[in-house]
Amino acid sequence: MKLLTPSAQRAAASDAAIASLPGFANHEPRAHEFAVLDPSTEQRIATLPSYSTEYAVEQVAIADEAGRAWAATTPRHRSDVLHDVYAHLIANRGRLAYVISREMGKTLAEAEGEVQYASDYVRWYADELLRPAGGYRENPAGGSTILTKRAPVGLALLIAPWNFPMAMITRKIAPALAAGCGSIIKPAGLTPLTTLLVVELMAEAGIPRELMRVVTTTASGAFSEAVLGDPRVRKISFTGSTEVGSTLMELAAKNIVKSSMELGGNAPVLVFDDADLERAVEGVFLAKMRNGGQSCVAANRIFVQDGIADAFVEAFSEKMANVRLGAAIAEGADLGPVIDGRAVTRLTSLVENAVDLGAELRAGGSAPEVPGYFFEATVLDRVPAEAEIASTEIFGPVAAISRFSTQAEALELANATPFGLSGYVFTENLDRALNVADQLETGLVGVNNGVPSNVAAPFGGMKQSGLGREGSHEGLEEYQEIRFYNIARRDTV
Ligand code: SIN
Repeated sequence: MKLLTPSAQRAAASDAAIASLPGFANHEPRAHEFAVLDPSTEQRIATLPSYSTEYAVEQVAIADEAGRAWAATTPRHRSDVLHDVYAHLIANRGRLAYVISREMGKTLAEAEGEVQYASDYVRWYADELLRPAGGYRENPAGGSTILTKRAPVGLALLIAPWNFPMAMITRKIAPALAAGCGSIIKPAGLTPLTTLLVVELMAEAGIPRELMRVVTTTASGAFSEAVLGDPRVRKISFTGSTEVGSTLMELAAKNIVKSSMELGGNAPVLVFDDADLERAVEGVFLAKMRNGGQSCVAANRIFVQDGIADAFVEAFSEKMANVRLGAAIAEGADLGPVIDGRAVTRLTSLVENAVDLGAELRAGGSAPEVPGYFFEATVLDRVPAEAEIASTEIFGPVAAISRFSTQAEALELANATPFGLSGYVFTENLDRALNVADQLETGLVGVNNGVPSNVAAPFGGMKQSGLGREGSHEGLEEYQEIRFYNIARRDTV
């Protein structure tokens, strides 16, 4: 298989963007340092400090003090600065996209899309913070009036994943800043460069550096224990696996820290006979292949009704077989590498196991023998229920399709998982769309829509997929406490 490779000029441009980042070094990692690799080449692109827990706790003191001063600024001031941040991020779209592509492996076109998506959170909260929620109530028994208001929750710990290195940071930091909170930010060890660049650009646009303290470290467990053990930290927002989320919730419980957890998914997709075939193929392709399938909301178990199944599988497989694999910054690449070698090994084993148990391989299926962590866009049809891929989060460009005959059967299959982040339904029948969406046990549902995420929507899961919501006004509330004043009244004459 021929892989698309980038021009030398393009590679040099991204190298320059990376070399200017704070903390960057260009040598093999020494003690208390770690390397960041380019998944398209397996080459080191940066060496960064792995900070100690003492350093992390020093940052808590700095960000806590800065957060108190920030909370005292006017909403108009915070809104204006966040609007300036939005404009500055967009003005640096090319640089940000390069860095995202180089360290995470998504194509430049997708990375540019992520820059817009990520920046939109900043713009959304710049506007949203001007409309603080509050209320007025009467004591039913008379004699007092109750006012409710929102106050900043205090210092927030933000722990981000590697799959959307910019959007998952701005989706946390924008509402934190809007609410009036300082933050300690821990980027993923695999993709810290984007966070460093985002925070640098935010500081250039006017956010005080003391408010956003980034701690790069490979000692994640010790870091979380030290920071969550500090009573000045009042909030944690984490995106990552359910397993790590559960450990963080235990740590957060000690000081009763308000927690938002965006955890694992296992999204069911239901394609009914009455779906529009073209729309369904396009929608499922997006739901599967956005970010190379490396998303918590990615289509994971694709259930197709018997009457449309052959036509769907044919058209979908053809589309997947035409996906051009290449280095993330290569001209014309549709799909870059997956994040690391472990992901390649896991995907290979999931595909082999499914085929051994009777699944039909309709496209792709293997990892090309070239440098870089590549895996072909793959389609498996008639995946048996006992195959490992039928119950695990795939997190890669492999589509696992099985078939169903009735709506009731489809819903039973879809909900037979401890996870409940996203679900998808494809049908042209409005009644069916709403009935099925109502019965899916997921926090969000894409109806004839392969990309339901939106800044104006409250992203988050049910069951073991998490707690709390990100985006929309609900995402701002995650960084606020509700308070009330009960004002006694007596009659006057
Ligand atoms: C995620 O994969 O965690 C986020 C995806 C999204 O925002 O759509």
